Amino acid sequence: MLDIGCGEGEMAAWLSERGFRVLGFDWSHAAVERARKRFGELPGKPRFERLDATCLPARAEKFDILIDRGCLHGIPRTYGKAYVRSIASWAKPSAPFWLFFHTQSRQGHPTAADTSAGPREEALKYLEAILPAHFDIQQVTDGWIEDIPILVILAVARSC
Ligand SMILES: C[S@@+](CC[C@H](N)C(=O)[O-])C[C@H]1O[C@@H](n2cnc3c(N)ncnc32)[C@H](O)[C@@H]1O
Repeated sequence: MLDIGCGEGEMAAWLSERGFRVLGFDWSHAAVERARKRFGELPGKPRFERLDATCLPARAEKFDILIDRGCLHGIPRTYGKAYVRSIASWAKPSAPFWLFFHTQSRQGHPTAADTSAGPREEALKYLEAILPAHFDIQQVTDGWIEDIPILVILAVARSC
């Protein structure tokens, strides 16, 4: 399982405890160091790497499940297509991709212009414009992370 923009690794660790083999990555050195320190590299524990989701290197290992909780919405929209192409290159055919995408900032205002978050309809339009190049959208649900409204998207990787 691939945890995209894993931050300090809480979700990767949670999934790992439930039997998933998880690679979490983040572009923040500090977050990856902290994740490694907290959750280690012992057998059965998640692995953590420092990588940029918009330009992942070629890799033989492919993943059965992809998850992004809170990463894509923070990436400027000009990098949206690169992100989708990049993460799809690490997915096995038909791998489900779970995306948790903020539609507003914590303060309840549309977030700054240099992130992808925005009002629900506009955010959904953006995701529907970038995902289908490599994923089929199966389900769109509304939800919350704490007090932040989100879109929960289930998409499935196409065979490349
Ligand atoms: C809101 S945090 C969410 C962290 C974690 N997924 C969670 O749910 O607790 C977003 C994370 O995405 C990371 N991030 C932002 N842009 C990224 C990129 N291009 N590649 C990898 N990670 C990125 C940030 O460094 C940050 O740790």
